[in-house]
Amino acid sequence: MRNLYLIGFMGCGKSTVSHCFERLYGMRSFEMDEEIVKQEGQSIADVFAEKGEAYFREAETSLLKKLGTQDNLVVSCGGGTAMRQCNVDEMKRSGTVILLNVLPQTVYDRVKDTCDRPLLEGKMNVDDIRGLMEKREGRYEGAADFAVRTDGKSAEEICREIWDCLGEK
Ligand code: S3P
Repeated sequence: MRNLYLIGFMGCGKSTVSHCFERLYGMRSFEMDEEIVKQEGQSIADVFAEKGEAYFREAETSLLKKLGTQDNLVVSCGGGTAMRQCNVDEMKRSGTVILLNVLPQTVYDRVKDTCDRPLLEGKMNVDDIRGLMEKREGRYEGAADFAVRTDGKSAEEICREIWDCLGEK
């Protein structure tokens, strides 16, 4: 099967859904952030602080190129991966792009006690989350082959919905 790329805002559930997808449908779950942490030998926050965001974005782009040579992966992308058109082109070339929609309040509830998301540093509140989300929405929607609303649903429900949408394509 061609790869599935899960995109969407931080805290929308990409990792949880990709792991659940692996369990239910046997595709291999792959987490981009986790791979970059392994590759760089430091946390995402440290990569941003020491090497800068541009470096991190390049690392995402070259990782995506490698993933594009494989198949049967369900890839949990970083929240910013779909912001670059070349990344979107690569994902569409090698698979299906699925947007997980989420409300700002749900994101806040999930990420408020974490400190590994440099873009939310000093912006850990619902209004700032909503603001950044609104800036990104157009690109997320433009990149996606289809979108799934996730609020109030279990990971399993979301996976089944995705599976049904894939069957209809
Ligand atoms: C980012 C989201 C993060 C991580 C990095 C940048 C973003 O991933 O890639 O902090 O630009 O939205 P998650 O969406 O997995 O939190």
